[in-house]
Amino acid sequence: MNVRSEFPALAQSVHGKPLVYLDSAATSQKPRAVIDAISHFYERDNANVHRGVHALAERATAQLEDARSTAQHFINAARPDEIVFVRGVTEAVNLVANSFLSERDEIVVTALEHHSNLVPWQRSGVKVRVAGVDERGDLRFDELEKLIGPRTRLVAAAHVSNALGTINPVARIVELAHSRGVPVLLDGAQAAPHLAVDVQRLDCDFYAFSSHKMYGPMGIGVLYGKAALLDAMQPWQSGATSPPQWGWAPLSTGCARRIERRCSPTSRRSCSTDSSCFGRFRACGCSARLASASA
Ligand SMILES: Cc1ncc(COP(=O)(O)O)c(C=O)c1O
Repeated sequence: MNVRSEFPALAQSVHGKPLVYLDSAATSQKPRAVIDAISHFYERDNANVHRGVHALAERATAQLEDARSTAQHFINAARPDEIVFVRGVTEAVNLVANSFLSERDEIVVTALEHHSNLVPWQRSGVKVRVAGVDERGDLRFDELEKLIGPRTRLVAAAHVSNALGTINPVARIVELAHSRGVPVLLDGAQAAPHLAVDVQRLDCDFYAFSSHKMYGPMGIGVLYGKAALLDAMQPWQSGATSPPQWGWAPLSTGCARRIERRCSPTSRRSCSTDSSCFGRFRACGCSARLASASA
């Protein structure tokens, strides 16, 4: 197969020469199959996911959950709900920094980190301790060992360095941190496009990667987290898909689920003519549940 011909962007000339693109570590070009899948979605299936009961919403939701399952199997996560879609590694790290740490905590990172796996920790107010690298660009494991102390709440390390290409001994890092009771976040931005990643074998607690560096679209990425840790984390962003106990507005999501489960196909059909949650509630005759659900 001619791989180059799969990438339409490579068919162009730049400065009068055929394009040679060498910046894939920053972002990869997109193959025809990805471009076509995106166009196909917007041409046929575009709808808000998990919030509608009409055909397009069901197709869009099914595709979202298919993608979650694909991501789960790609990194061998144990469960689909351990896959959290975010905008990329930067947002994944910000999410953990804002939801998992408190100001008295310390975090240990390595001198190999991309700013995305450094600045969010610094800005979160925790103390950031940095394990150095030797003259070959390899992590100084002895330093890492010394820096993990009683206040360390997390170790965060690149799986593969974007600057040097160093492949960190991540299984060893996880083993060390776990022996001190400390969870580990791995930044997989440069590893996921090149290495087989198995989060269960690595036993890491969080793993983040970005779609745009691995032939996928911009603006989407994955935060993997062990279910028990995700469940215990504080909310960072809230809104339409928040659980009902967070307030009144999130009911829109709750009631859509209830309609799916409790209403007849006829009432579901009439519900879908009204895109507002309360309209669907009324059409289903479920408005009484609104009060009890908001309590
Ligand atoms: C190692 C590493 N971590 C994090 C990032 C940030 O990724 P994103 O911009 O997709 O959030 C990059 C991007 O170059 C990277 O190379």
